[in-house]
Amino acid sequence: MAFSRNVKIAPSILSADFADFGREIQAVEREGADWIHVDVMDGHFVPNLTFGPPAVKAFRKHVKTFMDVHLMISPVDSYIDAYADAGADMLTAHVEAGPHPHRTLQAIKAAGMQAGIALNPGTPAEAVRDLLPLADMVLVMTVNPGFGGQKFIDMTQKVRTIRDWIGDREIHIQIDGGVTPETAPLVVEAGADVLVAGSAVFKGGSVDAPQAYGDNMRAIRASVA
Ligand code: DX5
Ligand code: ZN
Repeated sequence: MAFSRNVKIAPSILSADFADFGREIQAVEREGADWIHVDVMDGHFVPNLTFGPPAVKAFRKHVKTFMDVHLMISPVDSYIDAYADAGADMLTAHVEAGPHPHRTLQAIKAAGMQAGIALNPGTPAEAVRDLLPLADMVLVMTVNPGFGGQKFIDMTQKVRTIRDWIGDREIHIQIDGGVTPETAPLVVEAGADVLVAGSAVFKGGSVDAPQAYGDNMRAIRASVA
């Protein structure tokens, strides 16, 4: 997929019906999703547990757009090949997940995926500056990771700083946590181009009534147009 800084919406299936992921992914893509965001949690790096490589491989069958896998796990390196085999297009690891994030990004690229680096709200932008030459994306968390439906934490200054460092390089800035039509304009104005949204996209809809998914995404797009 060619690089573009057009604003993209990546619904997080953490807010979808866990009993019906296949149809949920198809429905939200039909309703206009640009990417599909998959939250992998290990119950260790974050206080929640979701799914691993076998489930992600099953999701892949239904993803027609771009599978964006967000690893909230520690350690990371021993799982990279499994997520490549599962079909991740973008694999994002947290800079806080271990002592060697540079080696982790190298390994993700060597496994044929695009490489993302994420930072928690409490981690300063400086932590990713020397990783930018290897990164295809920087994920700025706007909630403390582990759950959907949390309140947005303002990280616009951090986004602005990283956007300045990136310059013309083909590196996305992704925002994750509490994205709504009210908060999306703040981060897009600061330089973000990929908006993860879970509760704000899936609220009020279902696989049998997915129109709400489309309406919710259109509301976010309209807020940043
Ligand atoms: C939280 C996850 C997010 C979450 C976003 O740790 O990384 O992707 O699902 O959900 P909302 O948009 O509801 O904050
Ligand atoms: Zn996420």
